[in-house]
Amino acid sequence: MLNPQNSLVNGTSPNEVDETVEVISIKHWTKNLFSFRLQRPKSFRFSSGEFVLLGLKDTSGKPILRAYSIASPSWDDTLLFYSIYVEDGPLTSMLSKIKKGDGVILKRKPTGTLVLNALRPGKKLFLFATGTGIAPFASLIRDPLIYENFADIVLIHTCRMKEDLAFGQLVLELRENDCLLEDLDIKRLRYFPTLTREKFVNEGRITDLISSGVFFREIGMSGFSCDSDRAMVCGSLDFNKEMKTLLLNAGLAEGSISEPGDFVLERAFVG
Ligand code: A2P
Repeated sequence: MLNPQNSLVNGTSPNEVDETVEVISIKHWTKNLFSFRLQRPKSFRFSSGEFVLLGLKDTSGKPILRAYSIASPSWDDTLLFYSIYVEDGPLTSMLSKIKKGDGVILKRKPTGTLVLNALRPGKKLFLFATGTGIAPFASLIRDPLIYENFADIVLIHTCRMKEDLAFGQLVLELRENDCLLEDLDIKRLRYFPTLTREKFVNEGRITDLISSGVFFREIGMSGFSCDSDRAMVCGSLDFNKEMKTLLLNAGLAEGSISEPGDFVLERAFVG
């Protein structure tokens, strides 16, 4: 008998079927940041860095769906997501209360531009995130391809408070036990966290630290090089806009999957 998950429904490919998947675990990092792990349907494929639509039904039974970057790598058996909790957010107010065993709707159509295929070959890769914008990079930094494609990687994360960095720091640690990364030099990834509302080793918005030259001084570079540097950006609309200006001014060209370039951007999704 045909497994309905693998059948073609009205010409829909197996990867486009919607379904309810089970919650494996949920972790609250701060009062407004949480992550959750879902079962991964066996035939669900995606590239590290992509996002999907997921959600829950409201009290009237209407599905409330939002885009979420997958924060686990494409080889993982489960699907990890990282979310902000918005007090009156129609989805996150429900999602932050999910428990192990609950069902979450997963729309099986992964997409997004924060994928390695959207970048031209290069030597150094900068991953710029603010807040929950770290999620697609949490996926990419556990993918062997990133270490095979780039000699040097810098993960930059700007948050308000120290506690907001914890999720990203855990993912950095998880890499140390990833079998697929065993033979690769994961130390080629440097981590550059900055905080804007608490005393810290690096203080201020990354955009300001780039403009003032502090960022380059700290990491031992003189500036961006359009010949060998590539970048991915994920944060608020304003952050993306400011980063785009900085990268364009440095001579880097924006890319897409259809036309790979020197940098790509995507908005961090908010519930
Ligand atoms: P700030 O504290 O100065 O607003 P949020 O929690 O609002 O999503 O922000 C996450 C982090 O991103 C904060 O540290 C915030 O700094 C920073 N941020 C917000 N907007 C920008 C921007 N346009 N450029 C650079 N950093 C930004």
